[in-house]
Amino acid sequence: MKTTTHRLALIGFGTVGQALAKIIAAKQADLKQLRHIRLQIVAVATPGKGSLYHPDGLDIAALFAALEKDGTFAGYPDSPGLERGWSNLALARDSNADTVVEVSHTDMTTGQPALDHCRTALSRGKNVVTSNKGPVALAYADLSALAAANNARFLFESTVTAGTPSLRLARHALAGNEITAMRGILNGTTNFILTEMEAGRSYADALAKAQSLGYAEADPTADVEGIDALAKVLIVANAVMGCALTKDEISCRGITQLTADDIAAAKAAGKRWKLIGQVEKQGGQVEASVQPVLLPLSDPLAQVMGTTNAVTYRTDLLGDVTLVGAGAGGIETAAGLLADILAI
Ligand code: HSE
Repeated sequence: MKTTTHRLALIGFGTVGQALAKIIAAKQADLKQLRHIRLQIVAVATPGKGSLYHPDGLDIAALFAALEKDGTFAGYPDSPGLERGWSNLALARDSNADTVVEVSHTDMTTGQPALDHCRTALSRGKNVVTSNKGPVALAYADLSALAAANNARFLFESTVTAGTPSLRLARHALAGNEITAMRGILNGTTNFILTEMEAGRSYADALAKAQSLGYAEADPTADVEGIDALAKVLIVANAVMGCALTKDEISCRGITQLTADDIAAAKAAGKRWKLIGQVEKQGGQVEASVQPVLLPLSDPLAQVMGTTNAVTYRTDLLGDVTLVGAGAGGIETAAGLLADILAI
């Protein structure tokens, strides 16, 4: 069977973008043999490191070798056809990529600059695959309409529970069910911090560890204040449950008010604090929130520890369906991007 080449432009090359490049390099032979596809990275662009574009593909090992030298792409070897310095928007608009992989940092105030990258790529008929929560949480309806109008795909599995397929489960595997509620542990960093604090570590040490392991957002305030979980609640509400919620309609409280004493008291009482995101449809009304909840240990969500996430969907035909799996981390998030790329 003939192998098809699928070209990718990566906007962003931090923890997640680099993890995707490593996975592609490691799995290239399997992808060719089992799926008859070759994934070719034609462009990478990031504000700190510079940008590279080669319509015939970049060498992944050489990208990492250049980064090793000085943290930028300056040392990537020149070759005929290689171009440097294209802007993110130029790559989204004019590169030969089939799919733009938007993996820049999430901004939950404006969604920018990722929102413009997505709009530009989709309006040129390029698919967009993203782990960036901003554009999906703030503009899902617009972007999916733009994708449909331009015969392109807009996929974002890794925005919720990283590569654990909580969106695909609801949108495809549970097709035909009405999902009337979702309740979940949607932020890996805070669940990790709560787990570490229960084991006696301090909040500051636990947060620093979550940052060093690549779980936290660029600005971890988004994690600990519940904003990251709020973004995920919005995505599930709008992209899975057919709501039209805005972020101001979701009450939001993070874990910063929880003290070591609160956590110890819960443990002594056979309970556990968890940061819970939920959405519930009742009649024409939608209620959504993010807040710390004191759960009895008999609650399945109380048993979800570390960076693991969990989502329970309430369905009309199957009752409750729960999915538990990785919720943060470079490789874990890139796994969702790869699944989206293969879906395309
Ligand atoms: N900072 C996020 C978390 C990354 O900790 O869950 C995954 O979205």
